[in-house]
Amino acid sequence: MKLWGSRFTSVESKLMEDFNSSLGIDKILYEQDIKGSIAHVQMLSKCGILSKEEEHLLIKSLKEIQEEIENENLIIEGNYEDIHSFIETKLVGILGDTGKKLHTARSRNDQVAVDMKLYAKLKVKESIYDLEQLINVLKELGEKNEDVIMPGYTHLQRAQVVTFKYHLLAYVSMFERDIKRLENAIKIFNESPLGCCALAGTTYSIDRKFTAKKLGFSGCVDNFLDGVSDRDYLIEIVSAFSIIMIHLSRLCEELILWNSNEFDFIEISDMFATGSSIMPQKKNPDAAELIRGKTGRVYGSLISLLTIMKALPLAYNKDMQEDKEPFFDSVKTVQSSLKIMAEMLKSLEINKNKMKKAVKTGFLNATEVVDYLVLKGMPFREAHGLVGSVVLYCEEKNKTIEELKLNELNQFSDLFDKSIYDYIKYENSLKKGIKKEMK
Ligand code: ARG
Repeated sequence: MKLWGSRFTSVESKLMEDFNSSLGIDKILYEQDIKGSIAHVQMLSKCGILSKEEEHLLIKSLKEIQEEIENENLIIEGNYEDIHSFIETKLVGILGDTGKKLHTARSRNDQVAVDMKLYAKLKVKESIYDLEQLINVLKELGEKNEDVIMPGYTHLQRAQVVTFKYHLLAYVSMFERDIKRLENAIKIFNESPLGCCALAGTTYSIDRKFTAKKLGFSGCVDNFLDGVSDRDYLIEIVSAFSIIMIHLSRLCEELILWNSNEFDFIEISDMFATGSSIMPQKKNPDAAELIRGKTGRVYGSLISLLTIMKALPLAYNKDMQEDKEPFFDSVKTVQSSLKIMAEMLKSLEINKNKMKKAVKTGFLNATEVVDYLVLKGMPFREAHGLVGSVVLYCEEKNKTIEELKLNELNQFSDLFDKSIYDYIKYENSLKKGIKKEMK
């Protein structure tokens, strides 16, 4: 059953067989593996290495195998080393000697490299789509709540007034950068490794450009040794995924805080919450907490990949088989997190009044009072100090700045006149600042 059995005199230990097999993990590559094989067969035939008849039989049988897998008539299991051995063995089972010709001018090293690149490209494109969907939801939620104002925070202390929409648009900017990072990753890795063979190419006159084009790559890798042992692109993608998870986890953290009784700015729908087995009143924001927690898994995958690749001599080493689990797991985690986040946001309830009330307390217009004094000629640092004293006075009197009488303000400076009240209205400072930016 081994593709390489003849060189060996004793059978592989059962322990080793199980330890070595990656079939349970890499079976999800069956589609890419068959696609790569079909392109390879077409190329071999075009170059006169296989006959037209052999090309026809091999492609037909490879497609049949794919269909059988998809209809669940063929289950990917058994003591095969990996998906490549599984499919080749099935092919030989159908075609006999013709099936044995598939692997001419190819190694599993370039085969797995091309499969992984095809899979990675597909999954990156899907993730870009998920990001675009989430961006649309964030934009729609902002549009729907155009008039909602809330405190903006630094150090989790109320700082200045912002609009809810503007706060959401900060995440739109983050996710837009994530899309660029992923698009750029594809640009860099979009070169076909097929034809590198084990590490040093082949003595056959093959046409690497042909397979590259058939498989949708922009060209071929330059160097065979690098082509079979490059896993940079997986690291780059999972690093971009890790940054996506940073962004999602920051948003999750805010949703969790805002959903708490202490903030009470939003209500997360029952659809994305769970209850407590002991405390009947509880409704916990589990979806957001899980995304926040799963961020750790994706970072873990990144560290795994970095460590697997560290100090590996050229070219292929079996260590590289370990790239699959972390990569596949991070794809699944990122994609499900993006989808859940979008759905959770769609069903979010916004407590406008609570947000507005929070704006009123916390001296969110103190910076505008400073600006007012500066416009009237006071040096900034002096104005800053003066308004600090005004805030202290307000705290003692339990008043907001706009509630102070003009004569109270004039105790601090003669520069205050009644125009101050309009100047520090929240709506006006938004118009002069954020809203001007938003267009
Ligand atoms: N299952 C292997 C992997 O994923 C395929 C390549 C095996 N190549 C080899 N020379 N043993 O890395």
